[in-house]
Amino acid sequence: MSDHKQTPVAGTQGDVTTKDGGKSWFYTDTVKDHFFHPRNFMMEDADPAQYNAVGKVGSPACGDELRVWMKVDLKTERIREFRWKTFGCGSAIASTSMASEMVTENGGMTLEEARKIRPQDIMDRLGGLPARKFHCSVLCDKALRDAINDFYRRTGQVDKIVVEASRVIDPVSKVTDHDIEEAVLDGALTLEAVQAKTKVGTGNPGVLPAVEELIRFYKEKYFGA
Ligand code: FES
Repeated sequence: MSDHKQTPVAGTQGDVTTKDGGKSWFYTDTVKDHFFHPRNFMMEDADPAQYNAVGKVGSPACGDELRVWMKVDLKTERIREFRWKTFGCGSAIASTSMASEMVTENGGMTLEEARKIRPQDIMDRLGGLPARKFHCSVLCDKALRDAINDFYRRTGQVDKIVVEASRVIDPVSKVTDHDIEEAVLDGALTLEAVQAKTKVGTGNPGVLPAVEELIRFYKEKYFGA
């Protein structure tokens, strides 16, 4: 893990880069704390009989995997316990550790509250992540959603299961991750080219770091670049 002390560039909320233009990676003290002292981490798989919701997700970007186990209060549907295990990188460890605190603090979030957490919320609490590490925080967000669906499946609340075929990246232009994927597959390999096709972020510049990460993600996935 990089230990650079550069000051994050102002105005890059949710996406910390260094003063040298991103030539080195900057990890905040909070990220390092959660990486070296991960909260609610399991060294081994949990005993499934002890938990009533399980989630699992793999990252197409890097091949890493994350499993989560939750204890959900049957009456209040608050998350009382959130345990996890990953074969992911330091950013995935820090992101999931932070997410595990967010969903269990103050008596625990309800499942519907937890479902509203976005990768950006986790990154904000971490003080940011390097741009190329955005997909690592997406990993824990997806595993959490998978576990929430699992709870609803087990309790017969099938109407509450949300299958996320695509995710809205920019609510203003209504552009989803699949739209960006299609644009990249269609040869748009830069932010400008993707914007020309989709208009993503033109009225909502706060989403641009996430868009750039998705472009990199799909470029690597399909073109290995
Ligand atoms: S590089 Fe795989 S989860 Fe971060």
